[in-house]
Amino acid sequence: MTTQQIVLASRRKGAPTLGNFRFENVELDEMEENEITVEGLFYSVDPYMRGRMNDAKSYIAPFQIGEPIEGAVVAKVTASKSGNFKTGNIVVGKLNWRQLTIANEKDLRKIDTSIAPASYYLGILGMTGLTAYFGLIDIGKPKAGETLVVSGAAGAVGMVVGQIAKIYGCRVIGIAGSDKKVKILKEDFGFDEVINYKTTKNIKEAIAQCCPKGVDIYFDNVGGEISDSVIANINFKARIVLCGQISLYNTTEVPLGPRLQPMLLTRSVLMQGFIIGNYESRFPEGMQHLQQWVKEGKLKTIETVMHGFDKLPLALLGLFKGENTGKMILEA
Ligand SMILES: NC(=O)c1ccc[n+]([C@@H]2O[C@H](COP(=O)([O-])OP(=O)(O)OC[C@H]3O[C@@H](n4cnc5c(N)ncnc54)[C@H](OP(=O)(O)O)[C@@H]3O)[C@@H](O)[C@H]2O)c1
Repeated sequence: MTTQQIVLASRRKGAPTLGNFRFENVELDEMEENEITVEGLFYSVDPYMRGRMNDAKSYIAPFQIGEPIEGAVVAKVTASKSGNFKTGNIVVGKLNWRQLTIANEKDLRKIDTSIAPASYYLGILGMTGLTAYFGLIDIGKPKAGETLVVSGAAGAVGMVVGQIAKIYGCRVIGIAGSDKKVKILKEDFGFDEVINYKTTKNIKEAIAQCCPKGVDIYFDNVGGEISDSVIANINFKARIVLCGQISLYNTTEVPLGPRLQPMLLTRSVLMQGFIIGNYESRFPEGMQHLQQWVKEGKLKTIETVMHGFDKLPLALLGLFKGENTGKMILEA
């Protein structure tokens, strides 16, 4: 059986382009015992994939040139040699960017589409929802009445962070890259204030104005100058959750910023990075909370959906141009 796949064609310093990907036809092997053939329905594109395009040692291995890109995929079982899966089951797992693929049963998990649409398992009920939950609860430790600032606020992780912080009774300030995103976060997601970092000249001052009592929790999705401006307003015993640094992922030289250590020291601030994989053993706890809040209508989501398997690289590159509001999804 022939199918189409997308491989890494070349590496790039700076912002990647469509030329760094290549489409090719590939012949699938015969299924063996405990294997399943699946057809991709929804593909997740995530900022961490940019790091995997570099040949650099990190917490996850780089993509190899000429080898398929892989990521989280929601798929339909089309044939099965596993007692645990049957044709028609909807599953999620880390799979190659192929239209059809053969996977081992241990790499797939059935999902319950009666709770939420299948694509939610790539976002609010998937990796980005869990990232928001554990980063905020475990490191941010929100308390009622505290002020939380989240950057990348209109993205998959940021939007969930803000809503969970509201559930915990925090005052929530978002930072996002367009007036449309500002409006959505305030009107549809209950953020108290949102700053458009692209049109605000002095972000440090804008944060001071929005946070008259200072910043108790900063959930950092972007890094760079935005984070410098937030940290300048940080409170005594504040927590900084280092989740992502997307503003630096395509830089060719790491920009110098202010020395933060004296401020962190004198204000007794905790700054902690994390990788969601650290929390794998606690995923059931996170999923239970996220599902409950979604059911109760306390946690909402939006998705930006691009259509067509051939648009997958475009969807990934779109993350770095702010083309998504909420979770970026590719529907095949
Ligand atoms: N630690 C972990 O385990 C973990 C897990 C998942 C995600 N993350 C990180 O969390 C962050 C958010 O991930 P996500 O999946 O939720 O992505 P996302 O926020 O849905 O999408 C990326 C967003 O980042 C913003 N952005 C892009 N370039 C930027 C720049 N130069 N400066 C400021 N903002 C920029 C864009 O929004 P604007 O329009 O607002 O610019 C874009 O929509 C990323 O840094 C990601 O690497 C970490």
